[in-house]
Amino acid sequence: MGKPTVLVTGGGAGIGEGIAQVLAQRGWHVLVNDIDAPAAARVAQAVGGTALPGDIRTDPGALISSAVAVSGALHALVNNAGIIRRSALADTSEADLDLVYEVNLKGMVRLAQAALPHLQLTGGAVVNISSIAADNPQPGAGFYSMSKAGVTAFTRHAAQEWGPLGVRVNAVAPGLIRTAMAEAVYAIPELHEKRRLMMPLRRIGTPIELGKVVAFLLSDDASYVSGQVIAVDGGFSQTLISHLPHPPTPTP
Ligand SMILES: NC(=O)c1ccc[n+]([C@@H]2O[C@H](COP(=O)([O-])OP(=O)(O)OC[C@H]3O[C@@H](n4cnc5c(N)ncnc54)[C@H](O)[C@@H]3O)[C@@H](O)[C@H]2O)c1
Repeated sequence: MGKPTVLVTGGGAGIGEGIAQVLAQRGWHVLVNDIDAPAAARVAQAVGGTALPGDIRTDPGALISSAVAVSGALHALVNNAGIIRRSALADTSEADLDLVYEVNLKGMVRLAQAALPHLQLTGGAVVNISSIAADNPQPGAGFYSMSKAGVTAFTRHAAQEWGPLGVRVNAVAPGLIRTAMAEAVYAIPELHEKRRLMMPLRRIGTPIELGKVVAFLLSDDASYVSGQVIAVDGGFSQTLISHLPHPPTPTP
């Protein structure tokens, strides 16, 4: 039997590139989608996969058909492509609301709908990339957190309806990962250091660390896991009480 095939959206950079690298190492044939065609081609070549450039909003059916045409079957979809448009909520424009909704949520849903008949044939799986901002809304991030909360709901909903069809659906919620999306922050050494010290693991995460969790969720090791959102955040989302002022306490 040939390699199983996975389509990774937004695979030309950042977290998507890390996911593509890990999946290729684990024996997947990776179809690298990105709106940035040269980026998709670069990563596809680096991981021995196939580039499928394109905007996920444009024609999800055609993208899935191209994916299936490459190797005859589709075993997994990683809905990773996502964007952020920064603005205060009161000032978020209708254009930015529409754009972030269309890429981060509608684009994922439509692509998964188009992939479903093919994933049914292979007993395949979907992994959606959400964010810890889905549960901890990020001030100044426009519609971003709301779109990611939608990704969580989509994941849980699809897992219920598609489980009986033999398709598992899960999500990964990254915390602070150093990619172009957040590079403006990490380029400032003091901000990088302050953020690092707020992480229980005392460092910012890497795209490869995201890729390893995606690989687990797509593997047979996760054969009874569906409808779950796994935070990959170095423990950060469990630190709420640490922000309270308190008398001196023992430090570990
Ligand atoms: N970096 C973080 O700290 C972080 C944290 C939480 C969640 N995330 C999520 O992880 C995912 C990847 O983020 P990243 O940090 O790697 O971002 P990134 O900007 O570094 O990379 C995103 C990639 O997606 C591509 N893309 C954008 N719009 C597209 C479209 N319409 N169609 C196809 N491709 C498109 C871009 O060209 C780019 O290559 C996103 O869903 C993001 O919301 C990132």
